Amino acid sequence: MPNFTIQDFLKKKKEGKKITLITAYDYPFARIVDEAGIDAVLVGDSLGMVVQGLENTLPVTMDEMLYHTKMVARAVRSAMVIGDMPFMSYQTSISDAVKNAGRFLKEAGAAAVKLEGGAEIAEHIRALIKSDIPVMAHIGLTPQSIHRMGGYKVQGKTDEAAKKLIEEAHIIEDAGAFSLLLEAIPLGLAEKITGELSIPTIGIGAGPHCDGQILVLHDVIGLFERFVPKFVKQYANMKEEALKAIILYREEIEKGIFPSDEHSFK
Ligand code: KIV
Repeated sequence: MPNFTIQDFLKKKKEGKKITLITAYDYPFARIVDEAGIDAVLVGDSLGMVVQGLENTLPVTMDEMLYHTKMVARAVRSAMVIGDMPFMSYQTSISDAVKNAGRFLKEAGAAAVKLEGGAEIAEHIRALIKSDIPVMAHIGLTPQSIHRMGGYKVQGKTDEAAKKLIEEAHIIEDAGAFSLLLEAIPLGLAEKITGELSIPTIGIGAGPHCDGQILVLHDVIGLFERFVPKFVKQYANMKEEALKAIILYREEIEKGIFPSDEHSFK
């Protein structure tokens, strides 16, 4: 099956079909995600928290993002791979944005990049599009702005904040982004933005009316315990499964059950 493309994003919106996304950060999980028929995989800078054990996403570097994106790109057969631009890889200048975004496509095998921000990154988006780098934008709760926002809080709750997000959504569409990720905003606001834009919206904590949905893989499969946001639905508890297996393995070694003849050479 050919890889999902930015044209497929638009086609699905037009046809009223939901777009499915999830994050992945390494080869084995990217294989599973791809096999599950997910449309696009985001190699999110959330890897700082769910893989590296960091407090937030700010310390994640370009080299780390490229390292993980390469593993994911190597694994997928049909999903589209989107690389998440880490903090300070694009905010510093438009030329940094182009250079660093280009590395995701040239060195790591991504087909697009994601950037957090609204009007302040419109010129960055334009420059990336001019360089043939497709862009997904990300507004609402933007984790790289955690210090400005004062924590991971729902955004767009007042009329004024909602109006600003609607304006930013239009600015991003005009700048040429192929889709817009909406994080942690009221469902009615996400519905309004989705209805007004011709590019697809992808929601995370933005209700059911977005054109597509994304969650962090480790939240979906129960591998991240530090906190579970309200918008997360856990579909499995892999921490429990892995713990059970590893305890059993330890116990069998201690009791001399493993390795048995079956797992030994004669
Ligand atoms: O880094 C990430 O995983 C994200 C989420 C919003 C999906 O940006």
